[in-house]
Amino acid sequence: MASDRPDRFVHVAASILNADLTNLGQICRDVESAGPDSIQVDVMDGHFVPALSFGPEVTAAVVKNTSLPVEAHLMVERPAQFIQPFADAGTRDFIFHMEVADDFDGLAAAVTEAGMRVGVAIKYETPLELLLPHLAKVHLVVFMGIEPGKGGQSFNPICLPVLSRLRQNIDERGLGTQIQVDGGMNEITAPSVVEAGAGALVAGSFLFRHPGGYVVAINRLKQAVR
Ligand code: DX5
Repeated sequence: MASDRPDRFVHVAASILNADLTNLGQICRDVESAGPDSIQVDVMDGHFVPALSFGPEVTAAVVKNTSLPVEAHLMVERPAQFIQPFADAGTRDFIFHMEVADDFDGLAAAVTEAGMRVGVAIKYETPLELLLPHLAKVHLVVFMGIEPGKGGQSFNPICLPVLSRLRQNIDERGLGTQIQVDGGMNEITAPSVVEAGAGALVAGSFLFRHPGGYVVAINRLKQAVR
């Protein structure tokens, strides 16, 4: 029973993909006051995923308007070319996709060299065996509970066994790698992913489309996983 466990800390990353972007600076300041632990910028190139979204300039504007750490989730075919621009923008975590990481070591080294923490995102259908050998090189894994490319999709619980296997591997090896689940996170789906081993959640539409606003939404999310 979740209620008989000591409170545990679950990191919440606010994804601004579905925020009202007409006043991005105000959104960043308001979101920060609502209590997430980081802001995530979803970068899409129209090739790795059909949509086109933000670049380093928007990320720099986010960094300028929050004291929270800013994570960049690169849903792009060629992440290497964006490492320095996102480092210059003030990004703390540079998250590239396993599906395009042909030179994983080279990417991880370049991200580290640029002064950012290494993150890797992986779709739940992508064989975990591709990622496991590299786990010790990454700070966080963004485990996709949806098909990357747009917000507001429903979390697919079929991925839970894969998530558990990832958690088990990290724990057996004594690694400190954080697992962040991204996609369809809300007060209903969050408990299942935390039970399966996630220590962090990315939430977008649940925060920015909640009728009570993001303060209520973030509190509901954190309460749901205590
Ligand atoms: C989709 C992105 C997600 C999205 C947030 O490719 O990676 O972070 O913006 O998803 P929802 O809206 O489901 O929380």
